[in-house]
Amino acid sequence: MTAVDFATEKPHRAVIAPGALEHLGEHVGDASGVAILHAPPLARAARRAAAIVRAAGAEPVLVELPAGESAKTPGVLADCWSALAVAGFTRSDLVVGIGGGATTDLAGFIAATWMRGISWVSVPTTVLAMVDAGIGGKTGADLPEGKNLIGAFWEPSAVLEDTDLLATLPIEELRAGLGEVIKHGFIADERTLELISAAPAEALDPASALIGELIVRSVRVKAGVVGADLREATSVGDRVGREQLNYGHTMGHAIEAGEHFTRRHGECVGLGMVFAAELAHRTVGLSAEHVERHRRMLELVGLPTHYRGIGWEQARELMARDKKARGATLRFVGLRAPGRVTMIVDPPERALLGAWNALTR
Ligand SMILES: NC(=O)c1ccc[n+]([C@@H]2O[C@H](COP(=O)([O-])OP(=O)(O)OC[C@H]3O[C@@H](n4cnc5c(N)ncnc54)[C@H](O)[C@@H]3O)[C@@H](O)[C@H]2O)c1
Ligand SMILES: [Zn+2]
Repeated sequence: MTAVDFATEKPHRAVIAPGALEHLGEHVGDASGVAILHAPPLARAARRAAAIVRAAGAEPVLVELPAGESAKTPGVLADCWSALAVAGFTRSDLVVGIGGGATTDLAGFIAATWMRGISWVSVPTTVLAMVDAGIGGKTGADLPEGKNLIGAFWEPSAVLEDTDLLATLPIEELRAGLGEVIKHGFIADERTLELISAAPAEALDPASALIGELIVRSVRVKAGVVGADLREATSVGDRVGREQLNYGHTMGHAIEAGEHFTRRHGECVGLGMVFAAELAHRTVGLSAEHVERHRRMLELVGLPTHYRGIGWEQARELMARDKKARGATLRFVGLRAPGRVTMIVDPPERALLGAWNALTR
């Protein structure tokens, strides 16, 4: 078992291990009701969680959410609030979210909004949620007008990452999650990149010890970054805070939106990292060799490195609308070298176009 501590506003611990769900009972405390919100493929884990809750002396309320992103809607929020109201939930009760990032985002937001905020336990079950979405305290949901438009910073009181639950995860989801693992590798942990390079097949095997180690390393990177800057204060030059977690995301989000969210987030982030690396090569001195390393790492885990789809005009327009752009100025997280993050603000049009051509040629 490995534990990673989050030294944030609400200090808490992430436990990463096969069978980590069994620790749920330790977090029931004096709750008399525990709402277990889960994604459909996690019904068995949710029933196990309910049994653990009962053994700890509380009453479980099981709520199966719609699949994936379709859980993050105002309608589902209202259904969950009603379920808590019917069950008579009070300030001392608990929410548990078991599923991918869509589930943990929604469950965390339910906890943030119930009676102005109650405790919750995050049980992320995709690689992406284990290393990113299910940790770090950002919660929320979508509106028909756009993704993640409503939300709150609301940290869980514990994170349980049960690697046994990855056994049923579709391989495409695993690959997409490794996109974020590789991102953490490039911004802050080169050893991650070496480990994947040495054993790419193991990195794609949810039963391997390597996947557990990669997840632990990745959680440490995110815990370190959000511990220093939970609320995403402004980054200046080479002093980059939480914003560095958005490496590859400016173009990644543009591709996601341009493709109407039909492509997996981790895949789009991979393409966005290739773009960011090409841009950093043209603006802040990232070597051509390190740019190629981006492509190599993504290829090793079966993620695309070449993009065909929306055109440059549309991509640029979507990036300008991204929340990291302030006014009309484009901002990118860039690398001078692996582990040396810097902000690239308002890069020359020629560099942007060169990076785009390198991604799409
Ligand atoms: N809060 C944050 O900081 C943050 C960061 C990044 C992403 N996000 C959010 O996370 C979401 C994406 O997360 P995701 O990639 O985990 O997607 P997801 O939650 O949609 O899960 C992907 C699919 O896998 C299924 N699934 C989950 N665990 C499974 C398992 N163990 N076995 C079989 N199937 C399983 C889900 O039901 C879903 O169909 C998006 O909504 C995004 O906005 C949030
Ligand atoms: Zn991401």
